[in-house]
Amino acid sequence: MTARITVLASGSGSNLQALLDAIDAGQLDAQVVGVFSDKPAAFALQRVPEPLRWSRVPKEYASREAFDADLADAVAATTPDWVICAGYMRILGAAFVERFRGRVLNIHPSLLPKYRGLHTHARALEASDAEHGASMHFVIPELDAGAVIAQAPVLVLAGDTAESLARRVLQVEHRLLVHVAKLAAEGRLAEHDGVAILDGHPLFTPQRLEFAPTWPPVA
Ligand code: GRF
Repeated sequence: MTARITVLASGSGSNLQALLDAIDAGQLDAQVVGVFSDKPAAFALQRVPEPLRWSRVPKEYASREAFDADLADAVAATTPDWVICAGYMRILGAAFVERFRGRVLNIHPSLLPKYRGLHTHARALEASDAEHGASMHFVIPELDAGAVIAQAPVLVLAGDTAESLARRVLQVEHRLLVHVAKLAAEGRLAEHDGVAILDGHPLFTPQRLEFAPTWPPVA
C-alpha cells in the first residue's frame, strides 16, 4: 500500500525534491500528501501543487504551543504514515512529537551524535574533522537526539569551506533520505523505547552507507 508521507520544510526543499524525484522514478512507493512550512515564502512549497501546501507564520500565534497545535491538526488531516522533517528549522514541541511518535523522521547534516543543532559544517571544520556527513533519525522532543537510523560520511577536503562542505553533504542527504524513506515506506522501520528497529532488529549502531562522491566534487 503506497505510504503517505507528509514533509515539513523551511527552505528551498531540495531534500523534498529528492523524495519527489525518487517517487517519480519508481524508486519509492510513496506519495507526498502535504508540505508544511513555517515560512510561506519557502520554495519547498512551490515543489508541490497548491492543495498540498500549508504554511503559517509562527509569530502570528500567541505561543509556540499554539503554532504547533495548528500544525499538528493540519498534519493529522493528511493522515500521514510518516512525517519527514527535511530542512525544517523549527524545534517541534513535545505535544507534536508525542502525537506522531515513532513516525517522525529528520535528516540532519552531521554524523550524530556529533554536532546537534546548527552550523554543523563550520563546527566540523573548526574541529579539523577528517570526515563529516549526514544522519537520518527519529524525532524526539530533545533536539537532534532521537535514535539514529542511518548515516553517510563525507570526506572533508583540503581547502573546504563551510559552504563547499555543505554542498557535498547536501548531496549525501538527498541519497540518505531516499534510502531511509524507502525503508519506512516498505514498513521495515519502527521506533521502540527510543531505539530504531529495522526488520524487527534493534539498530544499536546506525546503518553506515558509503555513497561514492560525485566527481569532480561539487565546487
Ligand atoms: C540544508 O542545509 C540541509 O543540510 C538541512 O536543511 C537545509 C535545507 O535543505 N537538512 P533543503 O534544500 O531545504 O532540503
